Formats: sequence, C-alpha cells, structure tokens
Amino acid sequence: MIRRFALAVFVASAVAAAAASWSEPHRATRGMVVSEHAIASEIGVAVLKAGGNAVDAAVATAFALAVVHPAAGNIGGGGFLLYRPASGEPAAYDFRETAPAAASAAMFLTDGKYDAAKHHESYLSVGVPGTVAGLHLAWQERGTMPWRRLVEPAITLARDGFPLSESLAASLARVLPSMRRHPASMAQFSKSGSPYAPGDTLVQADLARTLERIAADGPAGFYEGETARLIEQDMAAHGGLISRADLKAYRPERRVPLRGTYRGYDIIAMPPVSSGGTALIEMLNVLEGFDLASYGWGSSRHVHVAVEAMRRAYADRARHLGDPAFNPSMPIATLISKEYAASLRATIDLERASVSSPSSFDWPPESGETTTFCVVDAARNAVSLTYTLEAGYGSKIVVAGAGFLLNNEMGDFNAGPGLTDATGLVGTAPNLAAPGKRMLSSMTPTIVAKDGRLFAAAGALGGRTIINTVLQALLNVIDFGMNAQEAIDAGRFHHQWLPDAVVVERHALSPDTLAILTSRGHAFRETGALSVAEMIVVAPKDGKLTAGVDARSVDGAAAGY
Ligand code: DON
Repeated sequence: MIRRFALAVFVASAVAAAAASWSEPHRATRGMVVSEHAIASEIGVAVLKAGGNAVDAAVATAFALAVVHPAAGNIGGGGFLLYRPASGEPAAYDFRETAPAAASAAMFLTDGKYDAAKHHESYLSVGVPGTVAGLHLAWQERGTMPWRRLVEPAITLARDGFPLSESLAASLARVLPSMRRHPASMAQFSKSGSPYAPGDTLVQADLARTLERIAADGPAGFYEGETARLIEQDMAAHGGLISRADLKAYRPERRVPLRGTYRGYDIIAMPPVSSGGTALIEMLNVLEGFDLASYGWGSSRHVHVAVEAMRRAYADRARHLGDPAFNPSMPIATLISKEYAASLRATIDLERASVSSPSSFDWPPESGETTTFCVVDAARNAVSLTYTLEAGYGSKIVVAGAGFLLNNEMGDFNAGPGLTDATGLVGTAPNLAAPGKRMLSSMTPTIVAKDGRLFAAAGALGGRTIINTVLQALLNVIDFGMNAQEAIDAGRFHHQWLPDAVVVERHALSPDTLAILTSRGHAFRETGALSVAEMIVVAPKDGKLTAGVDARSVDGAAAGY
C-alpha cells in the first residue's frame, strides 16, 4: 500500500506523462457494469449483450442487488438514477423516499425531547419507498426491453438462492443482533436464529413472490394490492405511519440534472433533493482556480485547497438545501456559479486553514450503507445509480410475508424544530419532516462528458463522505492523470465543515504532508476505509471502457464484454 502511494506521488509529479500505471483497470470494448456484487454486474452485462441499453441494464442490476446485496440494494428504499444518452438531453430520476402523510416536524420527540431511536431505528424511521417506482419510470421513458425480463433474474436469485460470500455472511452475522426484535427479518437472514456460514445458500422465497408481483404488475405490484397490504399491516401492528394511501400516492420525479464545467469537462450531476450535485459542482468550481496538477497528488497544497473547498461547500449544503418542493427559493444557480466560486476562492488563505465557525447548527451523525453502480452500453449511453436503505439493512425490518427490508431514511430529516445544539442535533427548517416531503440526501451519481462524448460515470456510498469521494475520484483522473482503478484505489480525505476536522484514510497522506497541514491549522482524524466508489472511464487513448472497482467493498466487481 505504501509503495503504491509513493508511486502515486511520483505519477502525479510526472503529471500523467508516460509514467506506468501501478494498478490496471478492468477493460471492456462494448459495454460494462461495475457494482458492489459480481452477480449483479454479470446480470447487467447479460442484459446489454441481449440488446438492452444502459437503463435496461441498470434496472436489472438494481433488482439483482436487492437480492444479493441486502445491506443496501433494495426495493424498500430509494435513490437516484442519472442518465446521459449518447445523444440528446440527460435526465435525472429522483426516487427518494417521502415522509408519510401523518409525518410531522416534531415526530421524533418523546415528551418534548429528541428520541434518537424513534428517528433512526423504529417503524417511524421508515420513509415511503421509491425504488420500484423510480426504476419503472426510468425504464418506461428510456428502456427498451420488456420489464419482466429485467426483474426475472432477481426473482430467480431470490427463489433459488445464491451462495453467501465470506463478507456477506460476516455482514449478516454482525447485523443479526439488531434484527432479533423482528421475526420476519430473523427468518429471512438467519438459520432459525443462527448466522449463515460462507458458502451457504440464501433463499428469499417471500422476496421472490414480491418481485414476481412487481414483474407482473409493475409499480402496482408494490404500491397496491398484496404488497401494499402487507406493508400497511406491518406498519399498523407496530406503530408505523405508512398507509396504503401513502404507498399509492408515491411518485418518482424526473428532474433536470445540474450542469457544471471543470477544466473543459462537462459535469452532469444530481439536483436537490440530493445535495450531491450542488456541492460537487461548487467544489469543482472553487478548485478550478488552483493548479492541482502542478501541486502534485497528496501534496500539502493539494490537500489544503481541497479541504477548504469542502469546508465551504458543506457549510452551504447545511444552510440551504432540502426538498425543492418545500424550499422553492434555494439558491442553487448561485451556489454552482463560477462567480460565486471565485468569491469563495478569495477567502482561502493558502498558508492557513480557515475555521468552521460553530454557528447555530451542525449535522447529526449518519451511519450505514448505500450502494452505487455504473453502466455504459455499446452506444455509450451511461447510467450512474446510487440507492440506499440509509443504514446497513435500513430499519432492519423485513415486511412480514413480503421478504424485503424497509429503509430508515426518515433519519435523514433533521431531528426536530429548534433542536439545534452543540451535540450535533439540527433543527433548521429546510430539512424538517413534513407530509410528502423528501429528506435531504448526499448521494452523488455523476456523469462526465468531454467534447460532447461520454468520459466517465461515477458514484459513491458513505453518507456525507459521498460527495467528497466522488470529487476526489474525478480530480484523480482529470488533474492527476490516474486511470480509473488508480483513481479509486488512491487514499481519501474528507472535511464536512463541522466538526472542523479532516478525516483521512490511514496511509493516504505522508507524515510530512500531515505535519505541514497541522502546522497550518488543520486537525486530522485517521480512519480505515472512507466510503466506497465505483467508476467507469472511457479511456482517452482508445475509447475502451475502463472500470475502477473499489477494493474497500470486497464483493464489488466489474463485468463487461
Ligand atoms: O441519502 C443519503 O445521503 C444517506 N442516507 C446515504 C447513507 C449512506 O450512504 C450510508 N453509506 N454508507
């Protein structure tokens, strides 16, 4: 690892000249899928080989992940699908969860006091799921293959089972204690209460039946009929709020992607209710004014200006962003403008860290698991999709009889009105719960084009670290000349305004760099893996597809042809 990063610095200082790569990406000629599970990537590529386009493959991959990657792959959660066709306008599909009609800003209080368990770990933490409706809308508008064909591989996997990898068996063993309160969850993810072993076959018969209803009836197979009845029954029995009417009322949104530019590359990113695209473009605009390539990867100056850009963008995120339907005057156009970036840049002292003024609000801790994948087809249509249950395995609640996990995404709303305090609770208005409202997200599916042609698709997981991880993957390729795999392998750092500290992966930066930055006023906290990213880059030399697969998530894999 250390050798790799020593080489990274060398490659950066040689600025992508003819320096040899130290880590080769997976390559494909026609089409490619990179996801957190090999089986899901293969299912996506099989769709491409059968003549499906990137959206078809994304739908099949997403349903497959709901079976083979239950920590985050889902039908009971929500997310974002960003699509850039080889020609024509890109589109963003927002299938973020919504608060049920009975939700209110104060719903996470008990006797006037904030109740974290209610907020993050109860039936009240469940938002109305968006995934099935969102995938269906994207498919309806952009897909070409029969819907059933795209759901079927997932049905087979759920019905016949698949062998548990070492890492999934370990992950399930870790989560089991928190599922003990939920008999349907225990039944689905354990052997009568004992953990599965690696190599065991995980069969999910109820999930297979739910997927069968979705294959047959589309969104009605989830939001109406038997599935809706099972969800409502489970909710009513446990003090949850989601009703059949909430499910029937759920609508995904087609949004216009945010657009930015960075050193001649076109950046296509997710608008609110994700904060990802806004913050990403704001940071890129700030950094465009610094010659990162000449600083060299991992130099104190590179890290300093990147951290200062992060600090400022995350402060703006906290101040301004929420569901656009409830926050009609968010200053998005300003936040992603070059002029605003120039004004922010002018506040950066190259010799000294700024101080995040602990004003009246911070952000609550986020935990859990999300998953992200990218698809590029032979025509160079591209999808970047990120979706989540919020925490790993979401609320840990499997809907009895329906076989899928419910999200705990309501925890992404602020804690409650006026609840802002020094411990990190937030009570600011833009992101308080309200009926039908979407909770603010950090998910950052992103697509990059150059001279009208696809250049890259990227995404990441890891709560608020997501935006900075996608930022660094793009900088690593564009500024530091890394290939897709090098860009994903390279060490990461993260600053989110408050707390005022840089979280840095162990071995990512040299002791010398850390010492210089510390003397300039930065505080560091070391961590293990900092989020997970997946990326496809069209190699400039030969137009081949190259994938960066993140080894921080061990089951991840690229598949291509
Ligand atoms: O939407 C969001 O930003 C969060 N719910 C995502 C959670 C997440 O990425 C946790 N992943 N490791």
